[in-house]
Amino acid sequence: MANSEYEYVKREFEFDRRLPPSNWIVVRIDGCHFHRFSKIHAFEKPNDQNALRLMNACATAMLEKFPDIVFAYGVSDEYSFVFREDTEFYHRRESKILSLCVSYFTSVYVMKWKDFFPNKELKEPPYFDARAVCYPNFKTIRDYLAWRQVDCHVNNQYNTCFWMLVKSGKSEQEAQLALKGTFAKDKNELLAQQFQINYDDEPAMFRKGSSVYREKVEKIVKTDDYEDPIKRTRLVLKEEHVDIIGPEFWQNHQHILREGKFQHEFVKKFDINHMLPPCNWIVVRINACQFDQFSAIHSFDKPNDAAALRLMNAAASSMMEQYPSIAFGYGFGNEYSFVLHEKTELYQRRESLLLSSFSSYFTSLYMMKWKEFFPHKELMQPPRFDAEAVCYPKLKLLYEYLSWRQAECHAGNQYNTCFWMLVKSGKGEKEAHEILKGTLSKDKNELLFQQFQMNYNNEPAMFRKGSCIYRQKVEEIANIEGSENSTRREGWDVKVDHVDMGSGFWRKHSWILSTSDYN
Ligand code: GTP
Ligand code: MG
Repeated sequence: MANSEYEYVKREFEFDRRLPPSNWIVVRIDGCHFHRFSKIHAFEKPNDQNALRLMNACATAMLEKFPDIVFAYGVSDEYSFVFREDTEFYHRRESKILSLCVSYFTSVYVMKWKDFFPNKELKEPPYFDARAVCYPNFKTIRDYLAWRQVDCHVNNQYNTCFWMLVKSGKSEQEAQLALKGTFAKDKNELLAQQFQINYDDEPAMFRKGSSVYREKVEKIVKTDDYEDPIKRTRLVLKEEHVDIIGPEFWQNHQHILREGKFQHEFVKKFDINHMLPPCNWIVVRINACQFDQFSAIHSFDKPNDAAALRLMNAAASSMMEQYPSIAFGYGFGNEYSFVLHEKTELYQRRESLLLSSFSSYFTSLYMMKWKEFFPHKELMQPPRFDAEAVCYPKLKLLYEYLSWRQAECHAGNQYNTCFWMLVKSGKGEKEAHEILKGTLSKDKNELLFQQFQMNYNNEPAMFRKGSCIYRQKVEEIANIEGSENSTRREGWDVKVDHVDMGSGFWRKHSWILSTSDYN
């Protein structure tokens, strides 16, 4: 079928999160509002045999339906399904696996309801939520199952005591109080002494939960010429209520969690590279790490070192030259935000490649240009920058992001200007912080004016507004070789500006983030 012009909505927008390979996938489903559901269907407390059997029947149906489920463990209104480590079920697509499991489980639950509750009408549609978790090795998948069984034990012991106390005439609050702070052995004693119950004699299904798996059994498939039986190993489904915390069960059932076979080219599947969503403006923000220390070692001026800021701007300008997809940059202090055009296909929008190459190239530029801005200062320590990416689906949100960064620049710079003026005038750093605590913007302006005769608005715009960098159309005069004539040619220049990024700025510079490409 030919692709229609609309087909891109699938190709570009649908994300199939694939669960990482070589991991056991656990889908755990949990009854939604089963507290209420069990009440309106008058389930027995604390355990309703039929309700639990119905859950187990659903789990068995799941293993019958989906051969890649190797083990299931259930307790109360939850069931965990373990998919074999190398399953290719729906190409390991999370949404498919989750929705199919929970939907099939629910539908069997409703279908089989009558088998387990012949005299009870299903009054409300039951439903379950589901999540998928990946466990990379034998230890973690076993610990996961152990965790669920310990939970089963702790809850069941508590609930058994609780409901015995309530049935014996205590109020729910009294029962709760009686059990507060008790240990397992205290609860066993309570059951033995007050109710002559040996907890270990309680049904194993309540104490241990339910495990569903395939057991290896020898079956006679036919007889040979001498009438001797020919046996074959067959796998049959089993439902047991046994300990799965200790090693025995797993030693006796090694086939259940055996590791998958290594396949050719399989290693490539591990390269799960997160792609940033299409038609979003991508902002990669770079931030110098431990900059306090770095600026102290290189004795940068406080609160602003003009040369250091110009070095950041120069590195950012070169970034724009290297990466035409960068439409805009905004920086102040030790950070720089680069806005990538919403349609960019740079590194196929792969997050890790974008982040790593940006932070690496920026670092490299910063170091290479160092001498230009600090001819008399040696670079004493290698600088390093971290990077993160954010996506904005609407231009309006991107404007908000940039305004937010500029507001941060303003607030930080105003504070630092006051702080260092106070310190330079002889105040201790602690004292200076105290003086500025709780002050508003206008208080700080007044402080600067009254104490230091400084008009904050006369401070360099680069400090107050930060630096915007963008491309601007310029006309170049080019001489044609061998000719007297020259022609005018249009080109793009990278411009650094220190202005407000309000709506006026964007109106005046509408080409910067226009949706049509500039080149
Ligand atoms: P969500 O899962 O957050 O939607 O809430 P929930 O109401 O389902 O509670 P949760 O999953 O935390 O706990 C399961 C609840 O189901 C228990 O608290 C019980 O109220 C109820 N339940 C599960 N099994 C039985 C049972 O055998 N008998 C009775 N009486 N109640 C049960
Ligand atoms: Mg629940």
